[in-house]
Amino acid sequence: MLEQSSSPLLEVSHLARHFPVRGFLNRRVATLRALDDVSFTMTEGEVLGIVGETGSGKSTLGKTLMGIHRPTGGEVRLGGEQIASPSQKRAALVRARLQYVYQDPGASLDPRWTLRRSLHEPLVIHTNWSHAQREAKVREIAAAVDLPPTHLDLYPHEISGGQLRRAGLARILVLNPQLIILDEPTAGLDVSVQAAILALLRELKREFNLTYILISHDLAVVRSFSARVAVMYLGRIVEIGPTAEVFAAPRHPYTRSLLAAAPRIGGPRVTESFLLLGEPPDPLQLPWGCRFRTRCCLAMPECAGLAVQLEYEARHGVACPRWRQWDIRNQGTPPSPGTSVPFG
Ligand SMILES: Nc1ncnc2c1ncn2[C@@H]1O[C@H](COP(=O)(O)OP(=O)(O)O)[C@@H](O)[C@H]1O
Ligand SMILES: [Mg+2]
Repeated sequence: MLEQSSSPLLEVSHLARHFPVRGFLNRRVATLRALDDVSFTMTEGEVLGIVGETGSGKSTLGKTLMGIHRPTGGEVRLGGEQIASPSQKRAALVRARLQYVYQDPGASLDPRWTLRRSLHEPLVIHTNWSHAQREAKVREIAAAVDLPPTHLDLYPHEISGGQLRRAGLARILVLNPQLIILDEPTAGLDVSVQAAILALLRELKREFNLTYILISHDLAVVRSFSARVAVMYLGRIVEIGPTAEVFAAPRHPYTRSLLAAAPRIGGPRVTESFLLLGEPPDPLQLPWGCRFRTRCCLAMPECAGLAVQLEYEARHGVACPRWRQWDIRNQGTPPSPGTSVPFG
């Protein structure tokens, strides 16, 4: 069940992250399975979009890849080298090669520091460069993200939201990362600023030969920005494949529902049968078998007993063994030829 043939940059196998839920006297009362059995690979230079509702585990995936959370199970390899497993503490050098960009850039910039100090700081930690060497790198990267040199003397509260994002990006680019995890990079920005940030990310990718994981609940952003997309539901990938294919001919009923809820992106025709039923289940009491079955209007009693795994046909994987039965592809009209060219 090989997903790709060329040698991968990132290999994620059966990755899991569970959080203990504690009650009275700090006793462990339950386990929240925020991420469960997630596997995929990425080649260098690729852009993989991750979509799914709030609480589906997108950020947990990003943070577990990055090493902010230690995996509960599974492993992560970067360039063939194991960089994360339940027993492994991540080395600082590996941390530098993989970077996570928080949605809120304020999280990475100290409000008491000038941008210059914030941009020098990672280099102070990760290198033994002289001040002059660091300053040269900081200026090079500031120019690459279009931050005027005079801004380096300013504090975070003195610059705009768009400039904060640029500074946040600069702070990680000084470390020459290979893979960047962008968690909702455009959330909370005006549409024009969003477009500018996406254009900048494209430019930076080319200039620094980057690989991106783009986490976003905005399907339009993912569609225009990532050539491949993974759809998450309650801690699992339910569908993964080339973006154009997944959006035009979704195989999983959940993907179909997500697209039906976002008609403006021009996906397949909205059919009532694919609207989501009810609310997401309590994450502490996940349904047996297929986790989506309680909201799936195509669910059958046997879905409770299914061992649901991603099954690939070419590069398109779906975690619903019954997808062929309802031949989802025949229920929608194909989208008009792409208005935006996927990237990466
Ligand atoms: N540090 C944590 N401790 C306990 N539960 C967490 C923690 N981080 C996330 N969760 C839970 O894990 C699930 C997935 O959350 P998250 O990864 O933030 O989803 P998303 O980014 O898709 O909105 C949610 O139910 C959330 O409440
Ligand atoms: Mg999140």
